[in-house]
Amino acid sequence: MFFSIPRLLTAGLLASVIPAHTISRTERFRTVVTTDMEQDDLASLVRYVLYTNELDTEGIIYTSSKYHWAGDGKNTKFFLPNREYNTSQTSWRWTGTRTIEDILLKAYAEIYRNLLVHDSAYPTPNDLLSKVKIGNIVFEGEMDQDTDGSNLIKSLLLDNDQRTLYLQAWGGTNTIARALKSISEQYAHTAQWLHLQASVSRKAVILASGFQDETYAAYIAPNWPALRVEDFSTAYNTWGFNCNKGQGNVRGLPDQHEFFTGAWIKANIQIGPLGRLYRSWLDGQHTPGDQLDVFGNYTLAAAPGTWCKPLGPYDFLSEGDNVAFNPLLTTGLQDASNPALGGWGGRSKLNSSTPELWQLVVTEKAANGSEVKDWTTNRWVEAASNDFAARMQWGLTSKYQQGNHAPQVKIVGGAKVRAKAGETVKLAARVSDPDRDAVTVSWWQYLEEGTYPGEVAVTSDKRRDASAMVPADAKSGQTISIIVQATDDGDFPLTRYDRVIITVK
Ligand SMILES: *[C@@H]1O[C@H](CO)[C@@H](O)[C@H](O)[C@H]1NC(C)=O
Ligand SMILES: *[C@@H]1O[C@H](CO)[C@@H](O)[C@H](O)[C@H]1NC(C)=O
Ligand SMILES: *[C@@H]1O[C@H](CO)[C@@H](O)[C@H](O)[C@H]1NC(C)=O
Ligand SMILES: *[C@@H]1O[C@H](CO)[C@@H](O)[C@H](O)[C@H]1NC(C)=O
Repeated sequence: MFFSIPRLLTAGLLASVIPAHTISRTERFRTVVTTDMEQDDLASLVRYVLYTNELDTEGIIYTSSKYHWAGDGKNTKFFLPNREYNTSQTSWRWTGTRTIEDILLKAYAEIYRNLLVHDSAYPTPNDLLSKVKIGNIVFEGEMDQDTDGSNLIKSLLLDNDQRTLYLQAWGGTNTIARALKSISEQYAHTAQWLHLQASVSRKAVILASGFQDETYAAYIAPNWPALRVEDFSTAYNTWGFNCNKGQGNVRGLPDQHEFFTGAWIKANIQIGPLGRLYRSWLDGQHTPGDQLDVFGNYTLAAAPGTWCKPLGPYDFLSEGDNVAFNPLLTTGLQDASNPALGGWGGRSKLNSSTPELWQLVVTEKAANGSEVKDWTTNRWVEAASNDFAARMQWGLTSKYQQGNHAPQVKIVGGAKVRAKAGETVKLAARVSDPDRDAVTVSWWQYLEEGTYPGEVAVTSDKRRDASAMVPADAKSGQTISIIVQATDDGDFPLTRYDRVIITVK
């Protein structure tokens, strides 16, 4: 019901070459990106477009933030205290409204034919282009005017598609806030209002790369308290600006540090028409319009008074907005309806139920038994980085055999099991790999996902089978989460997962 006829026809014609793992459009998460187009938003978009085969992208919308706003074109001055400027300004670090159309999607178009070889579900460049809109960009937090961007979000929130609409805020939440306010202005005085407000609150989920203006606190939280908002700002410790207070490039766990080094990024990410748009330290690039984007130039970045001391050439710089879409990626772990379950985006906990705000947990217990800060996002760096690099290769080759493609793993017998305390639960997984790579399977307890507070022995003698012993002291109703993880041995090894939750009888 949501397909246009041309889309159906296209899908039908290509069916014979669709690899088995393509995700149908109605199963995909429906999402809108709003972005202030700082250089790390562009870097995040470079990653994002490589995942558009598994997401239903409904909008890519320019918005303002406390760091970037366009001004009204009439030299009107604007000022808020405690910002990067200390006198009123007519615009601030604005990078324009053409980068997505003229630079990012042009690069996507150059590699699109190759991407299709690896998954026919990639949207056409024109399809993505048709989703690009200008939202509320004039000043920080501006939400007085309906814009093309806010109108698009409003119409998606009111349409008949029952899927959740994941609204990503990579800049301010103001364009999203404007859409909500416009709905309220139109319907608040009608008989259907309470019903409508409840259904919009159920449909929308805001995935926020922090709160980069005041519109969440000032408007969304008080007026839409039942609308779920997830704040991923602590995931910047994994994916945000790599400044590290003069300690140098220490990003990532010691054995996964490689993925943040210049050697790895230059060789595996900053390649080809799309990858060259990615940003790293001292890579010679600069975003027109943003006078504080000095990261590409050593002389400017090392000057006294800059907030982020330069690291080595091509070291990881920042891609702080992938934090908002990592929870939507199809790894087998993701359950976007339940932020209390972990995944590449991390695991969250409820901060307050009214307004409904979720935030990432601070620590999780690592394999060595220590509580480790940011482990909830750092634990996935290797898998997520290899996945990104493998997709970058897809864009460079028209031969399916020259790319690596993820294995599939599925627990046999479903995602839920009931067992008594003291009982041994037999588990088995079905594993396949589209490239016929050798796949290594491992099973482990995701301790914090379960409500049983202790460790559970998971033994796996044979590669695809395992058994988990429900401890004798487990109480009825407690849960134990077991993950199966499958990693292939292709170039850039790819990992997929499945989860079973054992509930104690
Ligand atoms: C104004 O801000 C700049 C940095 O943006 C800073 O260097 C300067 O000292 C500030 N001036 C005052 C008067 O605070
Ligand atoms: C870096 O910036 C300095 C100061 O503006 C400039 O003189 C130099 O040419 C720049 N270097 C590069 C490689 O762009
Ligand atoms: C909720 O979030 C606020 C703002 O980030 C924070 O100060 C507070 O500690 C959090 N509360 C809980 C219970 O996590
Ligand atoms: C435990 O493992 C984590 C993650 O690899 C590491 O950061 C931490 O230093 C380790 N702790 C100890 C005590 O070895």
